[in-house]
Amino acid sequence: MSRTPLISGNWKMHLNHLEAIQLCQKLSYELARHRYEQVEVSLHPPFVDLRSCQTVIDADRLEFKLGAQNCHDQNQGAFTGEVSAAMLAKLDVSYVIVGHSERRALFGETDEIVAAKAAAVAEADMTPIVCVGETLEEREAGRAAEVVSTQLRGSLAKLSRAQFETLVVAYEPVWAIGTGRNAEPRDAQEMCATARQVIDDIRRGVGSGVRIQYGGSVKPVNAQELLAQPDIDGALVGGASLDPVQFARIVQAALQACISIKAARQAKNQDRKNQDR
Ligand code: 13P
Repeated sequence: MSRTPLISGNWKMHLNHLEAIQLCQKLSYELARHRYEQVEVSLHPPFVDLRSCQTVIDADRLEFKLGAQNCHDQNQGAFTGEVSAAMLAKLDVSYVIVGHSERRALFGETDEIVAAKAAAVAEADMTPIVCVGETLEEREAGRAAEVVSTQLRGSLAKLSRAQFETLVVAYEPVWAIGTGRNAEPRDAQEMCATARQVIDDIRRGVGSGVRIQYGGSVKPVNAQELLAQPDIDGALVGGASLDPVQFARIVQAALQACISIKAARQAKNQDRKNQDR
């Protein structure tokens, strides 16, 4: 099944609304030299920048999808300081990151909370990007697959079959985030394949359609090899997404990966045809 790669920039708590507008424009300038219809790009600024980014994306007809980094699971109410999925949908937000490891570790988000948020995002007709990933300790103890499987089962528990069909999952090993040490492409592939299998176990038949991103120190130098892996359908980029040149090069790498995957598939089909003759 062909899955359109999704390259997402998670700006975390960086850039005020004026800086955010500049980054959208600079990024659009960098990408204008390339055709990248085969790749989807989403930008996830802080909440206070969303309206400005929405306006510039709209006015300049930029090819970016707008994304958020979090939301509350209730539509409205006495939840001081929180933002609902419905509010984000009104700002033309398409993707909402939920369960990022920083939220799990620093703000106590459990799989149950993440599940409620993912469901709220999907109910508001947006796509949740559900993050999972093991810590270094868990990896060293040989528990990476088990941890990710438990997180997926808990975090996806409230989604309907139809909501699974548009779901995005991000595999982000915690030890690779912001450390400059990315997972080896082969290890990242193995974990994303495991995640796909788990998703298919949860809802039979949907695994092959779900996009799975890799995140954790994705840079122009490692992006192409990571994105060429058969079960890696995009990247969730932190630090490098704040630099328009670097982020545009990662989008380019996704395009190159698409081209090489397509060529490999064609060569395989040709081989098969030759053998059948
Ligand atoms: P870095 O790309 O800075 O490692 O961050 C990854 C991340 O947390 C994206 O959500």
